[in-house]
Amino acid sequence: MNKDVEKILIGEEELDAIVSRLAKEIDRDYKDSERLVLVCILKGSIVFMGDLMKKLSVPCEIDCMKVSSYGAGTSSSGSINIALDLMRPDLPACDLLIIEDIIDSGNTLSYLVNYLKLKGARSVRTCTLLDKPSRRTVAFTPDYRGKEIPDEFVIGYGLDYAERYRALPYVGVLSPSVYRENE
Ligand code: PRP
Repeated sequence: MNKDVEKILIGEEELDAIVSRLAKEIDRDYKDSERLVLVCILKGSIVFMGDLMKKLSVPCEIDCMKVSSYGAGTSSSGSINIALDLMRPDLPACDLLIIEDIIDSGNTLSYLVNYLKLKGARSVRTCTLLDKPSRRTVAFTPDYRGKEIPDEFVIGYGLDYAERYRALPYVGVLSPSVYRENE
């Protein structure tokens, strides 16, 4: 185990089982879709999306968006900045499934769902690996959810602290000594 990890929250086997279950749910719901597009929200969702798409039986395309919050801790859903947008002329034919690694305040996904519907997508749904409902500042429920987790600082499987630890194959809790020494 990485020395900066206090404990493993979700190990590799459990992650695999969670992703398999989500893929089955998505297969079931999109079997009649003519153009399913998985939208990876960079960067944290890269690992999850890579594993999820390999387990899908339904055909899908992939795309990416990058968003950032204007200010940490803000509860305004108008505070999201789109740094990389979807650039496709066929949105009215697309069933978009936004893929997230984690939902915290709910700001990012509630903003994005509205934004992509207004932009004209045929349908927009959301799939998150992790969910921290105790941190919500705006009401938001994902269509597909891997696992609810407590309010702990999690890293690995795509999630970072200061851009580190994304490549860990499990979801772990960051040792508080790591962020204390950077405060
Ligand atoms: C994280 C996560 C979501 C967002 C969730 O991204 O990937 O996009 O925060 O938080 P919210 O529910 O409070 O809006 P982050 O800004 O850390 O970027 P990253 O994925 O590039 O690490």
